[in-house]
Amino acid sequence: MTLRLSILGSTGSIGRQTLDIVAAYPDRFRIVALAARSNLDLLRQQVSAYRPELVVVGSEQDRWRIDAPTVLAGVDGLVTAATHPDADLVVIAVSGNSGLRPTLAAAQSGKRIALANKESVVCAGELLMRTARTHGAEIRPIDSEHSALWQLLALPHRRAELARVTITASGGPFRTLTPDQLESVTPAAALAHPTWRMGPKVTIDSATLMNKGLELIEAHWLFGLPYQLLDVVIHPQSIVHALVTFRDGSTIAQAAYPDMRLPIQYALFYPDRVPGSVPLLDLTAVGRLEFYQPDCERFPALQLAREAGLRGGTYPTVLSAADEVAVEAFLAHQLRFTEIVPVVRTVLERHQPIGGSLCLEAILEADDWARSATREVIARRQAVHG
Ligand SMILES: NC(=O)c1ccc[n+]([C@@H]2O[C@H](COP(=O)([O-])OP(=O)(O)OC[C@H]3O[C@@H](n4cnc5c(N)ncnc54)[C@H](OP(=O)(O)O)[C@@H]3O)[C@@H](O)[C@H]2O)c1
Repeated sequence: MTLRLSILGSTGSIGRQTLDIVAAYPDRFRIVALAARSNLDLLRQQVSAYRPELVVVGSEQDRWRIDAPTVLAGVDGLVTAATHPDADLVVIAVSGNSGLRPTLAAAQSGKRIALANKESVVCAGELLMRTARTHGAEIRPIDSEHSALWQLLALPHRRAELARVTITASGGPFRTLTPDQLESVTPAAALAHPTWRMGPKVTIDSATLMNKGLELIEAHWLFGLPYQLLDVVIHPQSIVHALVTFRDGSTIAQAAYPDMRLPIQYALFYPDRVPGSVPLLDLTAVGRLEFYQPDCERFPALQLAREAGLRGGTYPTVLSAADEVAVEAFLAHQLRFTEIVPVVRTVLERHQPIGGSLCLEAILEADDWARSATREVIARRQAVHG
């Protein structure tokens, strides 16, 4: 059977790897929609290779630059792609909070969603899961740790038997740096991740460990797990992606070479497992697997994210939006690496939360507020520190 795909974020790291899998199994997929923002050269190549009916670009003025039956722009275009009536599966691989509206719209349309965009779960976890349940949508996680948890938690068990649920973090490129060395980290060094090849935002988040903090919140919502059960360990080899420990002392782990094509492929083919581009794991060749406690002094993002998750309401949205703006400022050399998390903390401290059950408007309002508050905090720092 041919699966018809709509891919949001097709020019990004996850989007390109999704199309690698489509290219490896051309009889199994048809592309009905592709969406990206600014990489028009690559988007044009993808359009000519896959001939989608709908293409979405970032801005109105770029619409005429793409030759396709329908070309739309902006967030409304993303929503149209996410709810395309012909799409059997919607891959949401845009970065940052721009994934929020299309993901919710796909859930409201009862779509099958292969979800890479963790930020939408972080911001709207409760609303998203409730909407998906109400409209019969299915969410298949693409994040490698959550794909691992999806597989592990499908094993027969009762919830009360879970003693601990652990996701791993590579620790990023600066795991062993001293606080002084961290002060002078450059964007170029932060973008060179030791084990994963990813887009810029998630790569910087991996270096600060904010990525793992966002993933804790993502795991909480996707699998309905209380934060007390959720744990993070540093595992530099990135071979073990998640572990589930039962109260009898038994631990089951999911392991594979670090290659996003595996979790993407699992989400596309579920429940089938097909041979792919990832070699079979040879533990004797890997040799050594190491696990460490995260250092919360040098990498405070993890604890900050856990606190935001525990506070709930609009705090996770503010965490995610403030982080997005702070990461952009770091990449633009306007903020030091070690300032990213303190800026996010300052914005969280200023936030007047909206509690209880959240609607989309409240989340978007918190997102807007956090972005301008973060820009203000960064501008003040620049005025003081030059
Ligand atoms: N990369 C990984 O290995 C990995 C692993 C786990 C989870 N994730 C998650 O997957 C998501 C995507 O990550 P990535 O690494 O693939 O990011 P990326 O390489 O930066 O790609 C982002 C994609 O989204 C598009 N995009 C961004 N903002 C958009 C907007 N406002 N409207 C339309 N398109 C927009 C980009 O288009 P243009 O490039 O054309 O501007 C690009 O196609 C993130 O949420 C990330 O946390 C990624």
